[in-house]
Amino acid sequence: MRRKVIAGNWKMNMLPDEAINFIQELTPLVKDTENEVILCVPYTDLFYALLNAQDTNIKIGAQNMHFAESGAYTGEISGKMLKVIGVEYVIIGHSERRQYFAETDETVNKKVKSAFENGLKPIVCVGETLEEKEQGKTINIITTQTRLALDGLSKEQVKNTIIAYEPVWAIGTGKTATAEDANDSIKEIRKEIAKIYGNDVAQCVIIQYGGSVKSSNARELFTKSDIDGGLVGGASLKTEEFSKIVNF
Ligand code: PGA
Repeated sequence: MRRKVIAGNWKMNMLPDEAINFIQELTPLVKDTENEVILCVPYTDLFYALLNAQDTNIKIGAQNMHFAESGAYTGEISGKMLKVIGVEYVIIGHSERRQYFAETDETVNKKVKSAFENGLKPIVCVGETLEEKEQGKTINIITTQTRLALDGLSKEQVKNTIIAYEPVWAIGTGKTATAEDANDSIKEIRKEIAKIYGNDVAQCVIIQYGGSVKSSNARELFTKSDIDGGLVGGASLKTEEFSKIVNF
């Protein structure tokens, strides 16, 4: 049985004092869950978040990293820098980074490899745009993005990768994929992984759904056969709402 993993993606929100308050309020609300709880916070909140999440079941992640270990990359943060302060997870290839910051399947793959080299667990985002969906390209896009992101990884690394299937048209729009459609797309991603790395590996990979997840739709989505939890944007900014999603 795969575990359910619920990750919040705060994006460019929350100042340190807000992050501290959030974690202190969230802690008692999620302490009894069997699900894994992750908060992916801005770099400037990481240190505060890590201190306040100590001795709780809340894990802390970053939202991006550079693939190089160090060097002349002004403004960037490496996987090693994240690891040494105690970060466990890192989101890689979110559609906003693909769209606004020229992230490509190639840089996503380099970052995933670098994450593993530095002992971080990547949460890799894949998903089709509205245009691609309307052209009937969903499966082709998401399986290709998955294959390229995982290229060159060992079976053990693939098993430890979290994939977030996030239809781009569902992110921040209030439009959610139906639970059936999301489950079908995730099955296709799992099938693709099985083709390359074998079914035993594919059955271990956590594949989340993301895109306008809220407390009112979390249960329906997360109880589907292949949806192993969610990557939650807007609804992860309110403690009560996020705790309800965690405890779906
Ligand atoms: P949303 O964002 O929940 O606000 O749609 C999800 C995401 O971008 O990860």
